Amino acid sequence: MQTRTLGTTGPQVSALGLGCMGMSPAYGETDRPESIATIHAALDAGVTLLDTGDFYGMGHNELLINEALRTAPAALREQAVTSVKFGALRDPEGRFLGNDGRPEAVRNFLAYSLQRLGTDHIDIYRVARVDPTVPIEETVGAIADAVDAGYVRHIGLSEAGPENIRRAAATAPIADLQIEYSLLDRGIEDEILPLCRELGIGITAYGVLSRGLISGHWTRDRKPGPGDFRGLSPRFRAENIDSNLDLVDALRAVADAKGVTVAQTAIAWVLAQGGRRGAAVVPVVGARRRDRLAEALGALDVRLDDDDLAAVEEAVPPGAAVGARYPEEQMAYLDSEKKQTT
Ligand SMILES: NC(=O)c1ccc[n+]([C@@H]2O[C@H](COP(=O)([O-])OP(=O)(O)OC[C@H]3O[C@@H](n4cnc5c(N)ncnc54)[C@H](OP(=O)(O)O)[C@@H]3O)[C@@H](O)[C@H]2O)c1
Repeated sequence: MQTRTLGTTGPQVSALGLGCMGMSPAYGETDRPESIATIHAALDAGVTLLDTGDFYGMGHNELLINEALRTAPAALREQAVTSVKFGALRDPEGRFLGNDGRPEAVRNFLAYSLQRLGTDHIDIYRVARVDPTVPIEETVGAIADAVDAGYVRHIGLSEAGPENIRRAAATAPIADLQIEYSLLDRGIEDEILPLCRELGIGITAYGVLSRGLISGHWTRDRKPGPGDFRGLSPRFRAENIDSNLDLVDALRAVADAKGVTVAQTAIAWVLAQGGRRGAAVVPVVGARRRDRLAEALGALDVRLDDDDLAAVEEAVPPGAAVGARYPEEQMAYLDSEKKQTT
């Protein structure tokens, strides 16, 4: 397995990470034995970075990772690098209520996560969304205190915008920024990615397959079931899906010519951006099954040269997707999408 070092101070992780969100209710039905088998298969293949959030299934995802690590061979368990997001508030029906980045909340969230994960430390700890009511220095400062106390190894960010990235990095060393980055979402390229490179912060990219939309497995007649985020996502709406899947058809022609799959092409494109843009860019792919994981891992062997990259970008030009990446009310939580004041 190839590895990357996240930023100048972060840990070394596998070149491709496993995002575990979809193993808890997020994309409809889940399958616990298959989820655990997928985590085991990932570790066995050399994947070390496991991403979760304490609010994924309100603790369900951390307990799942706990079980997967507990039942994995010791050598594989020890290689795992856990990345945990906190701060999102949810009610018993799972509705999102806002975000809490206060220092006392950080300490409280951390205590519960350590317990659910069954561990004495978390490798990378990050607030899922910048809390606009709390200066980022206070949130990051509280995680830095947890680093000093040995409960956390590294500090990360998630969906932060340039101003807060700078302020966070001035407060404590930041390993990585987790942010959506895919062929359909290239918004970080102008400012955020160069800034992270300048500050020595790695990028862990999520939504690399745009929640499955550009995986090659989504079809025009597939309807998201109950509890599937994609039922709320503007890009999967009836009025947008045909146009977005036309892009996938164009991408499929490029993939077919290379003899690889659409998902592998989309992941390989993100992998290629690291070398191309001089930054550590690690895709965190949300495989929920072993067959999907195997397909995703195949992307590590796909080499896209300049002609291939040009063909991919001609098939899916920047800004070609129809519909925002989140429903409107959730877009409002994204500091990375806010107009900067400085
Ligand atoms: N920081 C943040 O704000 C944030 C937000 C969201 C997610 N994340 C993290 O990033 C991870 C990845 O994001 P994501 O799951 O939303 O997006 P993703 O990787 O773009 O999409 C994953 C979905 O794509 C489909 N898929 C089809 N073929 C696949 C393949 N070969 N490999 C993997 N998936 C395939 C699967 O859906 P089907 O199984 O239905 O086919 C899967 O649920 C999450 O698990 C989470 O850890 C972070």
